[in-house]
Amino acid sequence: MQMKQQLFDLFQAQIRNELESAYKYLGMAAYFETTPFKGFASWMRLQAKEEIEHATKFFDYVHDRGHHLQLPAIQAVATEYASPLEAFCEALAHEQLVTRLINGMYRVAIEVEDYAAQILLQWYIAEQVEEETQAQDFIDRLEMADGDVSSLLIIDKSAGKRSS
Ligand code: FEO
Repeated sequence: MQMKQQLFDLFQAQIRNELESAYKYLGMAAYFETTPFKGFASWMRLQAKEEIEHATKFFDYVHDRGHHLQLPAIQAVATEYASPLEAFCEALAHEQLVTRLINGMYRVAIEVEDYAAQILLQWYIAEQVEEETQAQDFIDRLEMADGDVSSLLIIDKSAGKRSS
C-alpha cells in the first residue's frame, strides 16, 4: 500500500537528511581526528554509522510500501570546529532540526490518516529524544570543564567508551 505523495516526498527527503546527518558527524570525526580527542572522534564515527542506519530504516520502509526512490545530492559539511564544545553545539542544533522534520512528517501522517507510517515515525520520535539528550549531556559537561584540559580529556575518554 503506497503512501500519499505528500508523505512519500517527506520520507524521500528524510533519507537524504539522515545521510546528511551521517556526513555531518563524519565531518566532526574528521575534526576530532586532528586533535588529541580520539574518544570524541570515535563517538562521532559511531554516530555517523547510526545515522546511516536511520536512513536505511526509511529506505527499507519506502520499498516495503511499494515506492521507487530518487536520491538527491548531499551537501558538503564542515570538518573544522573551534572547540569540542562548538562541535557538540552544532550537533545539538542539527538534532533539533531533525526533530522538527520528524514531527512534521508525523503531523502529515496524521492528516492523511496513514496509521502504518505513524507507527514507524513513533520510533524516530522516541529516538530524537535520545539524540538531543546525548548532545546536550556533552554540552553540559564541556561547559562545566570550561576549557580545562584535564577535564576535557576525562570527557573524551568517556566518549571513547561508546560501543554502539
Ligand atoms: Fe537520525 Fe541523529 O537523527
